[in-house]
Amino acid sequence: MQNGTLYGIGVGPGDPELITLKAVNILRNVAVVFAAASTKNSHSLAEKIVSPHLKEGVPVKPLGFPMTRDKQRLTAAWKENAHIVVETLKEGEDAAFITLGDPMIYSTFGYIMLKIKETDPDISIEIIPGITSYQAGAAAAGQILVEAEESYAVISGALGSQKLKDIIDHMDNVVMLKVYRNYKEILDTLNELDLTTGSVLISRCGLDGEEILWNLKDSPDHVPPYLSLLIIKKKD
Ligand SMILES: C[S@@+](CC[C@H](N)C(=O)[O-])C[C@H]1O[C@@H](n2cnc3c(N)ncnc32)[C@H](O)[C@@H]1O
Repeated sequence: MQNGTLYGIGVGPGDPELITLKAVNILRNVAVVFAAASTKNSHSLAEKIVSPHLKEGVPVKPLGFPMTRDKQRLTAAWKENAHIVVETLKEGEDAAFITLGDPMIYSTFGYIMLKIKETDPDISIEIIPGITSYQAGAAAAGQILVEAEESYAVISGALGSQKLKDIIDHMDNVVMLKVYRNYKEILDTLNELDLTTGSVLISRCGLDGEEILWNLKDSPDHVPPYLSLLIIKKKD
């Protein structure tokens, strides 16, 4: 029996209309859908986006990823999850692994893909890009990400603002994802570096409760939800 193909599918940032035709066409034909279960609400959101496109009865299976920085526990989870996916593929079934935004941007799909390439290099893997959260955020805020000779970097705020301090001198603009947990400290850094004027916080882009917050200095006690990102511009 021929192995099935694994499709790493970006389902877009949340608005159910921001999924590609290619993703929809593939979703119509897969037998199983996998999604990471750990990130807050992302699983149910990604499931909600793909559900209307699936054949009747196709299961959406959550894969558990522990919320830890313990490398050993993480590696064990990636291995276990990759094994679960490969078992389905070896039954000859095509499967999709769905990711909010794009699968190559801060997605657990990356770990699964690398593990499968290591353990079962013959498995066919195809990646379908998705519109990222920050592309949708830039559009919603009407904020140009980059133009002319400018550069921009995409960084994570999961560990706070040190990375921002390290790179801001070399970049014109910075996109920071995963800002919710350390937002207060990140905002302090933006104030310290005099970057609040050209910065915008976009929360729940394309979803109920979408919020676009400018003049960040004026809302020092703001508590953003999990799905929040910053676009930081040095010039405005
Ligand atoms: C694990 S990363 C996933 C990024 C995703 N793969 C992408 O391409 O945008 C999760 C982070 O993406 C950002 N994010 C995802 N969807 C969002 C949305 N609808 N609105 C605002 N930020 C979002 C937030 O910064 C969140 O903490």
